[in-house]
Amino acid sequence: MNMKDTPLAALTGVLEHYYGEIYRRIRQKTSATVEGIVISGSGLNAALEHYSAEEIIDLHDIEGFPQPTVKGHSSFLRIITIEGKRVAHFTGRCHIYEGFTLQDSLAQIALGKLMGARFTVLTNSAGGMHHSYTAGDIMLLTDSLNLMFRPVQRQWLASLTQNARQERPELDYFRAASGESIISSEWRKRIVPELATRGIPFHQGVYIGLTGPTFETPAEARMYRKFGEAVGMSTVHEAEFARICGMSVAACSLITNMLPESAAVNVSHDDVIHAAAIGAPRVATFIASACKTASSSPF
Ligand code: HPA
Repeated sequence: MNMKDTPLAALTGVLEHYYGEIYRRIRQKTSATVEGIVISGSGLNAALEHYSAEEIIDLHDIEGFPQPTVKGHSSFLRIITIEGKRVAHFTGRCHIYEGFTLQDSLAQIALGKLMGARFTVLTNSAGGMHHSYTAGDIMLLTDSLNLMFRPVQRQWLASLTQNARQERPELDYFRAASGESIISSEWRKRIVPELATRGIPFHQGVYIGLTGPTFETPAEARMYRKFGEAVGMSTVHEAEFARICGMSVAACSLITNMLPESAAVNVSHDDVIHAAAIGAPRVATFIASACKTASSSPF
């Protein structure tokens, strides 16, 4: 498909500018097109191991591709089919707290978009705050609170949004007064009954995205608890970017720990990874439900 002929030509022009080189290097390895993107959160890779991959690309072999540095994140692109939908599965992500720029931390989404994706499924490990939650639960995101961005990063995203708007005025959803969240509510309404039929208990709530990397102090936890049900260090920027790119977004947190209410409780990244490995099957069920109910038209 000629990019110039697509309705998102201006947007893909921006993607080309930032990600063209790595996209071409990927294209030397695979010609696969995909319907969607799935990103595995910390320690959640195992959730999709049982889907055999049509193609596996070691992203270390792609010069210039940002590589995750934290435990629990690997760097493969797997082309797999889930519930009849062929997706680009990225086995790890690059967080802002690792020192990556916003552009780098969004490379997976950009690449998936350039490979044809129309929907994005995001997963993460998160700290739970709602009193009814417990470690091991999953939470479908109903909405998000972005406490990650710095003005300079916003500027870059704003230029992208402007391009998208010029090209497709009907996509002028971004933080629109309609009250629509970045997480696609129509899609979530299809996922909920699907997940329920699979017998998986789940919560629905608001995810607060923080830059990290430190876990929350008791005072921070008290504050965040007023605004959402779970906190983590990813996802919100990916969701925003995916929406700007015209994709629908579904997202799920695995609650790996509860936020301490007193300074006496310690949480470490190793605890998060350990809990994620145990909770991964529930996340896999969420991903399957999301792929099954994903529609190829955006939003
Ligand atoms: N805080 C922030 N991010 C997290 C947590 C947490 O407690 N657990 C997993 N990711």
